[in-house]
Amino acid sequence: MYVCSCFGITEKQVREHADTGACTPRQIAGACKAGTDCGSCVRRIQALLGRGACPRRESLDTLGPADVPAVATGSEPQIAEAA
Ligand code: FES
Repeated sequence: MYVCSCFGITEKQVREHADTGACTPRQIAGACKAGTDCGSCVRRIQALLGRGACPRRESLDTLGPADVPAVATGSEPQIAEAA
């Protein structure tokens, strides 16, 4: 099935580029131009990459909590808004 109709790029081609190291829509665009014309396919490419098409993404998923930078959890004290 075509992902990028502007350049005739298929899901299979996107996955192949992901397998060879393209882990972002920008890297996919660098590999095959998909997403560089009308841009309507970028979300679909992002979705394909988000489904584990990229081998490097798996290594990110296996990181432990100590490896991930701290982010706001919502339990921090809230700053009152100015009246
Ligand atoms: S459909 Fe991919 S750039 Fe237009």
